[in-house]
Amino acid sequence: MYSTGSKQHLYVSQPELLRELGLHTSLDLGRPSYLAEAFQPLLGDGIIRANGNNWAYQRKLIAPEFFLNKVKNMLGVMEQSTIAMMKTWENRIIESEGGVADMIIDEDLKSLSADIISRACFGSSFSQGNQIFAKIASLQDILSKPSVLFGLSNFRFLPTKNNREIWRLKKEVETLILTVVRDRQQESQKGIIPEKDLLQMMLESAATSDDKLSHRLKADRLIVDMCKNIYFAGHETTALATSWILMLLALHPEWQERVRAEILEVCGDRFHDLFQDMDAFRKLKMVF
Ligand code: HEM
Repeated sequence: MYSTGSKQHLYVSQPELLRELGLHTSLDLGRPSYLAEAFQPLLGDGIIRANGNNWAYQRKLIAPEFFLNKVKNMLGVMEQSTIAMMKTWENRIIESEGGVADMIIDEDLKSLSADIISRACFGSSFSQGNQIFAKIASLQDILSKPSVLFGLSNFRFLPTKNNREIWRLKKEVETLILTVVRDRQQESQKGIIPEKDLLQMMLESAATSDDKLSHRLKADRLIVDMCKNIYFAGHETTALATSWILMLLALHPEWQERVRAEILEVCGDRFHDLFQDMDAFRKLKMVF
């Protein structure tokens, strides 16, 4: 147990207990309330803050997007963005003196993960997606300040400098997402066949379903919140995991060798096509 200000936290690291929690399917297991208050501007009523039926509805909507056959179609996007980033690293080395360069890569990896999620979520509207995500990242930075996270909750309503910045960014993010939604709706009215990205899934679900929650989705509110939640859930998690992987590989060159050897064994000299070949991908036990 530890506390931050007046909040008590229970930190669980026992795998058995975590597994048990993961298998718990009751809708009664709610979210921590401090997240609910402080992160409202960032997450709205999206899946990360949602409880009960509202959570189940969003989960049902989002889950198919992460099935293997869907993720498979995203490999090309991942490859394209990653190779573009690696080219910039190569150029920095080529342009440096003596072919050696110090590079701080954390920010590059964050941009990479934002770019990939943006393409997966917003398809060809990914450049607007990148703008949206840049603003969500600023919102996240302000909200992560200890004074905002663990401060007195009533202060959230006062027009302090921080709060005004939070309100401004929240409004801008919402306006940008709604502009992309409107563009899509107009395209579909003109008969343009839509691409199957996450945004389109949400729009179609709103149009075909008729329950109470889908009415809220129709009201655009939940679409905005879901986009914000996907970005929050997938951006830093992936960027940090990649940073750690690269750091650990740098610290343990023998593991670099093992991973390279496995890729060569599975793909031979066709490793440039690895991202197109799901069967080869699955054989990479060491990599994963
Ligand atoms: C290495 C990368 C990642 C890690 C370590 C990670 C970890 C987690 C964890 C621990 C949770 C449970 C949080 C909770 O309920 O308290 C979670 C939930 C979630 N993650 Fe990830 N995640 C990663 C990548 C992603 C990506 C790339 C996406 C989407 C683009 C994503 C979307 C989600 C969503 C939507 C939830 C909420 C699921 C629900 O409540 O049913 N995550 N993630």
